[in-house]
Amino acid sequence: MNKKMNIAIDGPAGAGKSTVAKLVAEQLSFLYIDTGAMYRALTYAALRDEIELNDGPSLFKLLSQIDISLKHEKSGVRVFLNEEDVTDVIRTKEVTSNVSLVSSHELVRVEMVERQRKLAEGGHAVLDGRDIGTFVLPDAKLKVFLTASVEERARRRFEEQQAKGIDSDFEQLKLDIARRDELDSTREFAPLKMANDAIEIDSTTLSIPEVAELIIELAKERTT
Ligand code: DC
Repeated sequence: MNKKMNIAIDGPAGAGKSTVAKLVAEQLSFLYIDTGAMYRALTYAALRDEIELNDGPSLFKLLSQIDISLKHEKSGVRVFLNEEDVTDVIRTKEVTSNVSLVSSHELVRVEMVERQRKLAEGGHAVLDGRDIGTFVLPDAKLKVFLTASVEERARRRFEEQQAKGIDSDFEQLKLDIARRDELDSTREFAPLKMANDAIEIDSTTLSIPEVAELIIELAKERTT
């Protein structure tokens, strides 16, 4: 696939976006850009520096002082905050439950979007997030909106946690996911929303490789 083509994968928390996006990028030899990880890295830095998470200008100031990079290594994508590898610490419960608030500030989003557009400049990237098709890359050649029922998304999270040896409460996970959906889709600036020209894929009854296969087919159709 030589023609420039970016792929946007948006959708609610836990729909399988990042796993699918990684797989699609790998199979097409595209760059994978995890935009949620960028908001998570900022949230981690803000919690560490004890910055008030309702304070957009202070968060923006912090963001302008830090470098967030995604390094593609053999073991997968590693997330760096300046020189620090934060790949694992940005997945903690504390970061997860505060990231929607941090990412709701317009000042923060505008700066993040600029960074994300730069990363995708090469034109062979798969980006996953909430506003890629509607705001970051409105001209993306292929836009996918990936959904799954809250029940199914909670079940996947629960199994993920079990596999990592972390105890969790299924009903609580369901509530957390529903709360994050609500916050992400009702924020004022660039909320989670399906783009008019996106293709919706409901992954409730599909496996990750099946979803990836569908997206790869769509991508191939659009370059011929
Ligand atoms: O995809 P994720 O769960 O790692 O994303 C974490 C949070 O970041 C999510 O709750 C909303 C926010 N986010 C966003 O607002 N815009 C994006 N493009 C990506 C993530």
